[in-house]
Amino acid sequence: MKTRIAVLVSGGGTNLQALLDAEAAGSIPSGEIALVVSNNPGAYALERAKNAGVPAAVISKKECGSQAAFEARLQGILELDAIDMVILAGFMCILTENFTKKWPNRILNIHPSLIPAFCGEGFYGLHVHEAALARGVKVTGATVHFVNEIPDGGPILLQKAVEVLPGDTPETLQRRVMEQAEWILLPQAAQLVAKQIAESRRL
Ligand code: GRF
Repeated sequence: MKTRIAVLVSGGGTNLQALLDAEAAGSIPSGEIALVVSNNPGAYALERAKNAGVPAAVISKKECGSQAAFEARLQGILELDAIDMVILAGFMCILTENFTKKWPNRILNIHPSLIPAFCGEGFYGLHVHEAALARGVKVTGATVHFVNEIPDGGPILLQKAVEVLPGDTPETLQRRVMEQAEWILLPQAAQLVAKQIAESRRL
C-alpha cells in the first residue's frame, strides 16, 4: 500500500506542483498525494490540486477561533482521510507541539535556505532571501527537514546549495533557489520518507 500524503499550503503552490508533477512522472512510487489542505481559501495551490484531481480542504484559522481548535480540525481531517505523512509546502501557519508530537518524523517542511542560516521565527518568504543578500553570502540553498515544535529546528533530511549571483534581488534569488533546489529536493524527500513509512508498515 502506498503512503498517503497530505500537502499543506497557503499560497501559490509551486512546491505542491513539483510534487504533483513528480508523482505523475512516477518519481514518488512509494507515496500518493491524497489530500491538499489550505488555510487560505484564495490560495492558487487549490487550483493546482483541482487540476490534478486531488481532493482539497480549506481550514480557516479565523473561523476556528483558536490555535487549538485549528489544530484539532486539521488533525480530524487528516485522520478521516487516513493520512500517513504531511508535507508543509509554503504553509504559513505555525504548528504547536500539541500537533507535531502526534506526527513524529511524519511531517516534512521545505525552507529556502541552508539551515541553520536564515531560519526560525520571521524567516519566511522573501525575507529569507533579503537576509541572505544583506549578509552577502555567496551560496545559499534549500533544506528539507522534519518538523517538531521548534520553528525550522527539526532534523535535517536533505539540503542543496545554490549560488548567489552578482546583481541578485530577493526575487531573482528566490526563483533560482526554487528552480535549482526546492522543486528537486521536495519530491526526493517525499519519496524517501514515503518509502520508509511503507516499509515500516510491512514489518
Ligand atoms: C517556498 O519558498 C518555500 O520554501 C517556503 O514558502 C515558499 C512557498 O512557495 N516555505 P510555493 O507556495 O510552493 O510556490
